[in-house]
Amino acid sequence: MKRRLHTEFLGRSIVYTQSTSSTNDDAKAAGLARPDGTVFMSEVQTGGKGRIGRRWSSPFGGIYMSIVLKPFLSPSLAAPDLPAPNLPALSIVAGYCVATAIRDTTGLDARIKWPNDVLVEGRKVSGILCEAVLPPDAPPLVIVGIGVNANVDVENLPEEVRGAASSLRALLGRRIDRATLVSAILDRLEPAYQEFLSRGLSPLVRRIEDVAAFIGDAVIMRNVTSSSSDSTQGIFRGIDERGRALLEVPGGEVVAVSAGDLTLRRI
Ligand code: BTN
Repeated sequence: MKRRLHTEFLGRSIVYTQSTSSTNDDAKAAGLARPDGTVFMSEVQTGGKGRIGRRWSSPFGGIYMSIVLKPFLSPSLAAPDLPAPNLPALSIVAGYCVATAIRDTTGLDARIKWPNDVLVEGRKVSGILCEAVLPPDAPPLVIVGIGVNANVDVENLPEEVRGAASSLRALLGRRIDRATLVSAILDRLEPAYQEFLSRGLSPLVRRIEDVAAFIGDAVIMRNVTSSSSDSTQGIFRGIDERGRALLEVPGGEVVAVSAGDLTLRRI
């Protein structure tokens, strides 16, 4: 795989296993001792984690990888008074790179569904889970966990997600070369991450919106973190420079939402 990479540091160190509980947990436990950009990968995960405490089903054929990033070692973030990178915004950057890598290597119309799911034909094929590690005596690390239903047999996904999820293999009708897709993701993520560290999300917003799902559509934003059934309806207008979703609500006001689950409103 390294032969296909064009990166300077992402994926130059790889920790590969056949099976693990979660590559994000492996990266959190061992990432500090590894170089910036190390990728932890596994063929399967027995305890794959999704966002907001969900599980990420991880059968054979998928891509399960977690990238260790050390933003405080980067020359562009070396000043100690700079704030830590905005994790939700970074995960949007990662989702954008996965979507464009899928588009460029398979020709499928992959779209990023805010904040960081990747959909093809309305079905989820990839998800991102970014986590921070705060070691007591070293600068924080960021773990970017990426799961892609690449060559997964959809029958091996849990029944409850089968309708909403799919795999690249099912959508294309053939297997894909996973090493090519992993290299394409890392090749796109390295420059996007560097740009994000030095200039924030602003220079990337336009490109992200170009491959975003539901722009201009009537949507419902559900507040998934609260126990109430809080939700906002509106027209999805895009994302702002902090990575928030912009919703035009009835009356015309545009509100910025920082967390939630976006779905199309059936009308
Ligand atoms: C989501 O859509 O909820 C996020 C899914 C993230 C899954 C990836 S697979 C590699 C890494 N290890 C994990 O346990 N989770 C992430």
